[in-house]
Amino acid sequence: QSLPSVRVVEVGPRDGLQNIRESIPTSTKLELIRRLEGTGLSTIELTSVVSPRVIPQLADCRDVLGDEDVRRMSGKDLRLPVLVPNVKGLNIAIQHGVKEIAVFISATEGFSKANINCSVEQGIERAKNVASLALKSNIAVRGYVSCIFADPYDGPTQPSSVLRCVKELLDAGCYEVSLGDTLGVGSPSNVRSLITYLLNNNISAEKLAGHFHDTYGQAVANVWEAYNCGLQVFDSSIAGLGGCPFAPGAKGNVASEDLVYMFHNAGINTGVDLSKLVETGVWISEQLSRTNGSRAGTALAVK
Ligand code: HMG
Ligand code: MG
Repeated sequence: QSLPSVRVVEVGPRDGLQNIRESIPTSTKLELIRRLEGTGLSTIELTSVVSPRVIPQLADCRDVLGDEDVRRMSGKDLRLPVLVPNVKGLNIAIQHGVKEIAVFISATEGFSKANINCSVEQGIERAKNVASLALKSNIAVRGYVSCIFADPYDGPTQPSSVLRCVKELLDAGCYEVSLGDTLGVGSPSNVRSLITYLLNNNISAEKLAGHFHDTYGQAVANVWEAYNCGLQVFDSSIAGLGGCPFAPGAKGNVASEDLVYMFHNAGINTGVDLSKLVETGVWISEQLSRTNGSRAGTALAVK
């Protein structure tokens, strides 16, 4: 009997780039998206439609969404979510023919205030409103809950706050909710206890995804633990890019190459071509003049 397959949600073009200061040409972002699509990834988060003052790097979201190749891709059987914080963002997404958005809230007050300038409660209301409007326009909605283990300003997170946020997002019509360890502080034991708690409270594993940042080098282990708790969807970023301006000191997302290498070695299908992924990681690291943050990507590239 074959092991359950995994769907990889590539967040490189969004989470991967959002916190990079030097301006990246739109053409490089588009080339990245095309190359990622060429690896067989079925879900690629394209960009976010947020305040350009808060996230200047993604101020070119309209050009990304309006690109001919991106439009062509969205006609295929792919999921191409776009991060949207409010109705303004949703309307811009709709104008550009977006078929899927991601709404995002924090389980904690400090990060909520810093990241989206409102309380957890207001964030939930906003996300629900955006989700309901999106669904009326036949747009699929993915949800994110940030700070599942800790908040940069408030310290440790109550699991009950995470549960509440997950429930609210599922009730709002999100087809899945991604659990974000924004700070990258959790380890496998934390992952197991939080997921066990959620499953014991009637949240189905099929509705959950894992989103692990790698600050403490635990991200690959956390993905493996979450998979063994029943999750089959994981967010990752090419070359381990990623970060958020309101999570100071946090490292990038788990590297897509590392995650795919791990699953393929276990005989678990991801539908992704690892060698093409490695090439893409090398290419984007060169474009950004950054050290490749993927260990598997670096090792496989010299072979
Ligand atoms: P605010 O200041 O309360 O909002 O910010 P506002 O409605 O008063 O608007 C302020 C300005 O932003 C106005 O412009 C608006 O027009 C503009 P001005 O008149 O001053 O020139 N604006 C927009 N522009 C474009 N698109 C929009 C939009 N909305 C307002 N959608 C707001 C509230 C939510 C807008 C702001 O705080 C924001 O944009 N936050 C987003 C921050 C962000 O993108 N963070 C990173 C993504 S989350 C993340 O990384 C975590 C995740 O990866 C999971 C994990 O790791 O945990 C998902
Ligand atoms: Mg993130």
